Amino acid sequence: MTTEPSTTAPSTTGDAFAGAVPFSGPRFHVEPAELYRELRRDHGAVAPVLLDGDVPAWLVLGYRELLHVTNDPVLFSRDSDLWNQWDRIPGDWPLLPMIGRKQPSILYTVGERHRQRAAMMSHAMEAVDPFELRRTAERYADRLIDSFCARGRADLLAEFAMLLPVRVLARLYGFTDEQGPALVKAINDLVDSTEDAIAGQTHVFTAMAELLELKKERPGPDVVSRMLADRYDFSDDEIVQDMMVMTVAGHQPTADWIGNSLRLMLTDDRFAASFSGGRHSVGQAMNEVLWEDTPTQNIAGRWASRDTRVGGRQIRAGDLLILGFAAANADPQVHLEGGGPTHGNNAFFSFGHGEHRCPFPAQEIAEVIARTGIEVLLDRLPDIDLAVAPETLVRRASPWLRGMTRLPVRFTPTPALGDRP
Ligand code: HEM
Repeated sequence: MTTEPSTTAPSTTGDAFAGAVPFSGPRFHVEPAELYRELRRDHGAVAPVLLDGDVPAWLVLGYRELLHVTNDPVLFSRDSDLWNQWDRIPGDWPLLPMIGRKQPSILYTVGERHRQRAAMMSHAMEAVDPFELRRTAERYADRLIDSFCARGRADLLAEFAMLLPVRVLARLYGFTDEQGPALVKAINDLVDSTEDAIAGQTHVFTAMAELLELKKERPGPDVVSRMLADRYDFSDDEIVQDMMVMTVAGHQPTADWIGNSLRLMLTDDRFAASFSGGRHSVGQAMNEVLWEDTPTQNIAGRWASRDTRVGGRQIRAGDLLILGFAAANADPQVHLEGGGPTHGNNAFFSFGHGEHRCPFPAQEIAEVIARTGIEVLLDRLPDIDLAVAPETLVRRASPWLRGMTRLPVRFTPTPALGDRP
């Protein structure tokens, strides 16, 4: 695998992509900040990159350029059918699950149809009671901690961060407690691309379709029933697709937000005091992660609907632009213009921007789940500490979502609480 961003593009990609950088390799997970600085220095705000199989794309690294792209959903469309590279994409291309064609979910829907779909989803999530949500998140966090607290050691990633969001989301959407564990396994198999990924996808899809049928007959105070009550003319299949998106797009980045925030708090002296009630709060760590270590590093993407220019680059109709959220968050122009630390504000790109950004109620739900999980953990295990040297902590090998592979900790063993009423 290539590690240095100096490899030039093969001639098939044309002059525009001369000097393109492979969009893979360990630098994306070992030292991304330095890599993005180099890319900006060598290529400017929009860099030519090569995806698996030397497929060309543009990586938008500049804050202003990313605002420009995400603010114009007509010129920079979410419609992947526009891509001018489909004829060279093989059926087994590894990025197909992420950059899909003709997928009937909200992700690739555009225009008025997208606005209706986003409204259906947002209204359904807006009705979630934040106090009830917090109680649900506390209950599941307590149960997870109960499963390892007497041991004095745990892997906070596998045993906590990767289990909590999907359990809470499943409950909000209308699943029963009994269905939770199988859903957790299926979703994690799916997002981790394990050998059980296809089986996981089938399980989640079937469970969603069954839930939809159940809620049609017996609506309840849950997200799926509210989507059905407010469904415009969306078909059952479209609603099931959106339930899949809400579950998968909701679980993994929230799990990584918890994992990356815990890593920061466990490794950075400024936050060490938090564990015993010090000055740097959980909220500050979570905000800092969204600026500097965001789970959503790079997202694919947008497709140019006609020839245009961005960041001094000639973009052709049908070219793919990858949204470089992490690089844009670190754009020195923003930091200079802001005239000081950015951590007090929410002007990061981590939830996207424009019409296709993460729906606001989804952001709030993610925030409550992540913050509650971390607070309950610190409350229950106040002397928690890393069980390994910080430099041995490894990130997942992906330029897309950024998260830990494990987070081993130790703490004074404590008895389980058991289920609260
Ligand atoms: C309850 C948890 C969450 C749910 C249900 C959720 C749901 C969604 C949905 C449905 C979309 C697609 C919106 C559209 O196409 O109109 C989306 C987009 C997005 N979400 Fe979330 N999300 C959650 C948590 C998060 C978290 C924690 C992050 C990052 C830290 C995140 C980052 C994003 C980004 C960057 C996009 C925009 C993608 C683009 O512009 O193409 N989401 N989310």
